[in-house]
Amino acid sequence: MKTKVVIIGAGPSGLLLGQLLHKQGIDNIILERVSADYVLGRIRAGVLEEGFASLLREAGAGERMDIDGEVHDGVEIAVDGKRVRIDLASLTGGKKVIVYGQTELTRDLMDARTLSNQITSYEAVNVEPHDIAGDLPFVSYEKDGQKFKIQCDYIAGCDGFHGVSRKSIPSDHIKEYERVYPGGWLGVLSATPPVNPELVYAHHERGFALCSLRSQSLSRYYIQVGPKEKVEDWSDDRFWQELKRRLPDELADKLITGPSIEKSIAPMRSYVVEPMQYGRLFLLGDAAHIVPPTGAKGLNTAAGDVHTLYSILTKVYAEGRSELTEKYSQTCLRRVWDGERFSWWMSNLLHKFEGKSAFEEKMHKSELDYYLRTETGQKIIADQYVGLPYDEIK
Ligand code: APR
Ligand code: PHB
Repeated sequence: MKTKVVIIGAGPSGLLLGQLLHKQGIDNIILERVSADYVLGRIRAGVLEEGFASLLREAGAGERMDIDGEVHDGVEIAVDGKRVRIDLASLTGGKKVIVYGQTELTRDLMDARTLSNQITSYEAVNVEPHDIAGDLPFVSYEKDGQKFKIQCDYIAGCDGFHGVSRKSIPSDHIKEYERVYPGGWLGVLSATPPVNPELVYAHHERGFALCSLRSQSLSRYYIQVGPKEKVEDWSDDRFWQELKRRLPDELADKLITGPSIEKSIAPMRSYVVEPMQYGRLFLLGDAAHIVPPTGAKGLNTAAGDVHTLYSILTKVYAEGRSELTEKYSQTCLRRVWDGERFSWWMSNLLHKFEGKSAFEEKMHKSELDYYLRTETGQKIIADQYVGLPYDEIK
């Protein structure tokens, strides 16, 4: 088999890239380790920057998002029971975010892919990139007990944090940067109306909490939990009680609870690998970087990488400008570090982490007060929450 681009991984990064390339007439094959149903079963964030929404439309998969997605022009931050609304639209000159679940947009991308007749091979095992430093790379894999080999021009590693792509770069060519936070987020999905029409990020002495939503009948709530906590120890009742304790009274009083549809603990990690390319292999999304979920930048940072590689490859194939591929990593990394810094800062600002001195506690309180009380502070939050623009490739 032969194609222009082999894409490893059918998460949002791989599927979005595949559709955008297809629209430009650039053939590609996607290889995914698990089944399509398994991919759709993962519950993840659902706050889209306008840049992501535009890319999804350009990929021909934005129709349902434009009908069912909720446009939010504000977000709330609550500190010890007091609520502050960050008016995203007025603080950023009209920018907004769209609340649309990752499961839904993944399904839309899968449907668009089916219509495009491009090959996607699910349950492809032992996927392995070869000769990435040379001019004739190829990818080998197995499916249903048979071995396959695909020759290609480029390989896009969209296979997440635990994928094979990053591991196939010689370790002396990369540097990793990491911060692992103590504990994680315990999340519950429930078929109940959301407690507030907009998202509420809550800082509380007992720890962080987030009220989010997927639709007017589906809510997503999170509470910060310590490193030793196990999901089995959290009955629905215990979860709702703890969430209520961390929310402002008027929200706690009107919270409608119900049985959890999904309950899991997500770790909090900041991670970046540099550079994000080696020879003809490019890393995108979670394969190259991870952010803690505060600020909802995971999916949106991945979209920046997709935009960059898509812009470069479009010019490579339409104008023969293959030298542009060398700009991939440096272009992505500037925006990646922006997302990393914002997520790290929001996490530190809104969580309760042990081990602070009395002085550091005071600094923390003062920082919260400054950013929420002043318009300048709110503007800084709003500007980054709605997302910074993508860099153009010239
Ligand atoms: N071979 C083939 N596919 C693989 C392999 C492999 N060796 N290893 C992992 N994969 C697949 C996974 O099964 C998964 O479907 O790659 C995909 C990676 O998808 P995500 O982890 O969702 O990563 P990405 O698409 O970059 O996601 C971007 O969305 O899901 C969020 O947390 C994610 O915020 C991030 C954003
Ligand atoms: C979510 O809805 O799952 C969500 C929203 C915002 C975040 C993180 C997760 O910052």
